[in-house]
Amino acid sequence: MKVAVGCDHGGFHLKEAIKGLLEKQGIEYKDFGTYSTDSMDYPDVAKTLAEAVAVGEFDRGILTCGTGIGIGIAANKVKGIRAALCHDTFSAHASREHNNANVLTMGERVIGQGLALEIVDIWLHTEFEGGRHAKRVDKISAIEE
Ligand code: RB5
Repeated sequence: MKVAVGCDHGGFHLKEAIKGLLEKQGIEYKDFGTYSTDSMDYPDVAKTLAEAVAVGEFDRGILTCGTGIGIGIAANKVKGIRAALCHDTFSAHASREHNNANVLTMGERVIGQGLALEIVDIWLHTEFEGGRHAKRVDKISAIEE
């Protein structure tokens, strides 16, 4: 599995912690930045990362900002992206099983690092259930046409 990770200044420390988890699990990843806590605009990194996921260069993307909201809204503007904001383990499971989310977003100012890493672990290792959910995800894609 190839994973793309990215953040703005508000999500920098969480992104670094996520990279540590990916390294521990031997998961290949690319860091799309930002690379410090210097202020930057989250739509810039969201667009670059989401486009790379949408064309299939990466299997999944993980984006962090202060809240996980702005960066997720921006990522969802890219065709083919289903970005899910998950700050609990139930949503992490459901966003994969039901929505086939291909981008996970989280907010460093919202969630503790321990829970955030548990969510990443669940989200990366949970498969889409398909079946009745596939029809619904197809309907989401149809909205993009
Ligand atoms: C940056 O201050 C903050 O607005 C950003 O990280 C994010 O929370 C936006 O949704």
